[in-house]
Amino acid sequence: MLNEPPPQNQARIETVRVTRAETDGRFTRLSFHAPEQGRRALAGQFFEVTCHPADEANPTQGPPLSPLLNRPFSINRWIEDGFSILFEMIGPGTKRLGAAKQGDRITVLGPLGRGLAEIPPHVQHLVLVAGGIGIAAFTTFAQLARQRGVACSLYYGVNRGTDLALRNPKKKGYQSRLLDEFDSLGCRCALSSMLDGSFFPGTVVDLLERDRQENCVPFGDPVEGIFMIGCGPWAMMNALARWAMPHQIPCFLLMEEMMGCGLGICRSCIVPGYDIREDGSKVPRNIAVCREGPLIAAERIDWERKWE
Ligand SMILES: Cc1cc2nc3c(=O)[nH]c(=O)nc-3n(C[C@H](O)[C@H](O)[C@H](O)COP(=O)(O)OP(=O)(O)OC[C@H]3O[C@@H](n4cnc5c(N)ncnc54)[C@H](O)[C@@H]3O)c2cc1C
Ligand code: FES
Repeated sequence: MLNEPPPQNQARIETVRVTRAETDGRFTRLSFHAPEQGRRALAGQFFEVTCHPADEANPTQGPPLSPLLNRPFSINRWIEDGFSILFEMIGPGTKRLGAAKQGDRITVLGPLGRGLAEIPPHVQHLVLVAGGIGIAAFTTFAQLARQRGVACSLYYGVNRGTDLALRNPKKKGYQSRLLDEFDSLGCRCALSSMLDGSFFPGTVVDLLERDRQENCVPFGDPVEGIFMIGCGPWAMMNALARWAMPHQIPCFLLMEEMMGCGLGICRSCIVPGYDIREDGSKVPRNIAVCREGPLIAAERIDWERKWE
């Protein structure tokens, strides 16, 4: 179901052209002409992206190579001639990348890490649970569900109604171009806003629990055929894992650890976890998220040691 970690020597560095840049001033989506990488990338995989345009690589022709380190970004969606990434502009790398324009060339390394090669055969409903910018990784999963004819729900939690990614207040309905895309892929959207009550007034896990108690789609009694994937801040993923496990809902997490190399070399992305044996026993082991993740079964994370 998950792909094997790609051998390090197969990670490809390519310089790709920006075909479209969309922004709402806070979130930016760049689409790349990259047919080969788009075809190879699985839902949940990521690219290490050089945050300055390749044509500025020669300092005599432009600003210096800043920031020096690549930044990891999930593949957001497949498009006809490549793929897109979607990011929040929060620091030097994302702000610089957010200034890229159509026609600029950007260097990317990947696709990297473990993603979902196919939706497992027993799955009847794919449930995506996003906290904040965690939503960036999920359009590919909705695309996969659409291709397979599997039902899909997106639970998306933000702090305030104005925090929706690719927001456009002039748009009817969700007021977010991104959510309109989920809608057109046939993915049901359920929203929560913890701080201002624009949507369900609680966390996204509170919203899941309300729908479970009320037997709403996708939850029935018993809960069957659901496959859940979460992506967001640690506290949200911890809460999701703690909620899903007792209800016996298979739950995977897309882990977004701080990363250096993205190739399993620098060890900056280690999280405490377990190997799970066939008899169900757990053997403690540190997990390199860039190689063994980012998609990891929630039960493999040692939450207690992670918070130490
Ligand atoms: C596998 C993976 C996939 C990712 N996919 C996306 C994506 O699709 N869209 C997106 O917006 N972001 C994504 N991120 C996070 C993204 O890499 C960081 O936002 C980015 O590196 C910030 O770079 P910067 O130079 O702008 O800011 P920095 O100055 O490097 O960081 C700004 C702030 O963000 C925090 N930060 C940096 N990296 C992370 C991280 N990995 N997780 C949580 N906080 C972080 C820093 O502590 C700091 O407070 C992903 C991270 C990983 C590991
Ligand atoms: S980012 Fe270097 S080992 Fe994972």
